[in-house]
Amino acid sequence: MASRSAKKKAAKKRAATSRKAVSKRPTKRTATAATTTKQKLYASLVVQLLSLLKGEHDFVANAANFSALLFNSLPNVNWAGFYFLQDDELVLGPFQGNPACVRIPLGQGVCGVAAQQCETIIVPNVHEFPEHIACDVASNSEIVVPLFDGERLLGVLDLDSPIIGRFDDQDAEGLNELVTVFVAHEEGLGI
Ligand code: SME
Repeated sequence: MASRSAKKKAAKKRAATSRKAVSKRPTKRTATAATTTKQKLYASLVVQLLSLLKGEHDFVANAANFSALLFNSLPNVNWAGFYFLQDDELVLGPFQGNPACVRIPLGQGVCGVAAQQCETIIVPNVHEFPEHIACDVASNSEIVVPLFDGERLLGVLDLDSPIIGRFDDQDAEGLNELVTVFVAHEEGLGI
């Protein structure tokens, strides 16, 4: 028969285990819910973008509506827009937010680095990214997604947030899907 102290120990262990299980469950549920919410949001943005693009092939108008869609649908975003490649520099395109710097040489700024490296860059804290070009003092984090027509770099999509660590891999995935839809629609326009 188990002694009283052994029983007490076993009871303590059960209590600790059940506390762990309780504290784990909500965390897991929250994480799953957050994932689903963000993925659902991007899936709905794909549908909305396709509807905005339908029947319209004016590149500037479509890019303007695309930036407005992102700016108004994504939480905690203070700037959303495009820079397009002209020779060796990025030139400001349609956007939503405060006025921004017009020209960014390749390799400079988060945009120039993303364009030069041809890859999506997530900067959790722009103040710790030496190349960052500050256009809006409210910006604390940033994501830049390059746009390609096949192998050809067209420019970048840039989003800023006042929240540190605002953008994650799911944003990268969702935004890459959106720019792919956008570029596919514009194909054949010689942009
Ligand atoms: N922060 C960007 C410049 C553009 S603005 O954020 C709109 C960069 O470092 O490239």
